[in-house]
Amino acid sequence: MTYQSKHTQIKSPKEWYNFVAEEYWKYHTLINSFDQWLSKRFFPRGKNNLDIIDLWAWDGRLFPTLKNLNPQRYVACDIAEKLLKRHPWTNNIEKIICDLEENLPFEDNSFDLATSFFVLEHINNIDHLFSEVYRILKPGGRRIIGHFIQRREFTWKKNNQEFKIQFYNHRIQDLEAIADNNFFSKDIFPIEEKGYTIGHILILSK
Ligand SMILES: C[S@@+](CC[C@H](N)C(=O)[O-])C[C@H]1O[C@@H](n2cnc3c(N)ncnc32)[C@H](O)[C@@H]1O
Repeated sequence: MTYQSKHTQIKSPKEWYNFVAEEYWKYHTLINSFDQWLSKRFFPRGKNNLDIIDLWAWDGRLFPTLKNLNPQRYVACDIAEKLLKRHPWTNNIEKIICDLEENLPFEDNSFDLATSFFVLEHINNIDHLFSEVYRILKPGGRRIIGHFIQRREFTWKKNNQEFKIQFYNHRIQDLEAIADNNFFSKDIFPIEEKGYTIGHILILSK
């Protein structure tokens, strides 16, 4: 038994996602299977000229779905530069590197729709984030969050080394309270698998 074998290094989300940028596409199929039905139920329908921001856009996995809404503006925002570079749609999109623990680099009342899937677990200060998203949404704007219940850090092996990603285990009741404190009206839908709740979809409206 060695010291290294007992301790797994924990990387920040920025380090981690840049580190795995070339390989992370392997998870598209798995993650698509969780949220492919979402667009039909929760995305705005029959609206034109939407301004959309994908907060934590990754490499653009969600873009084929968001593209169907025919946005007039689409912003992909992520902390990991290498992942954002892999976003394949280079025309008519704005790619912005931003850290969602900080103030967001957008004007007040800018967006109709803000999406965030599989990412709240990387954010420490949810209260600040929700207040910033409230600020940049237009009145009537909608924030859609996919949040999965994860009890342990995700582990990744590369070059014979094992890494974990820094992780915050936010409870759904805490997220609800933070949404209330930030003036959002909210709808929450459980995601179930084999009779168990494995996560939630939060629809927050300004
Ligand atoms: C599991 S991926 C999910 C991506 C995308 N939302 C999807 O569903 O396909 C998590 C993403 O969050 C980004 N991320 C993590 N912490 C962040 C932060 N503080 N600010 C901005 N992006 C962050 C990562 O770089 C990564 O692209």
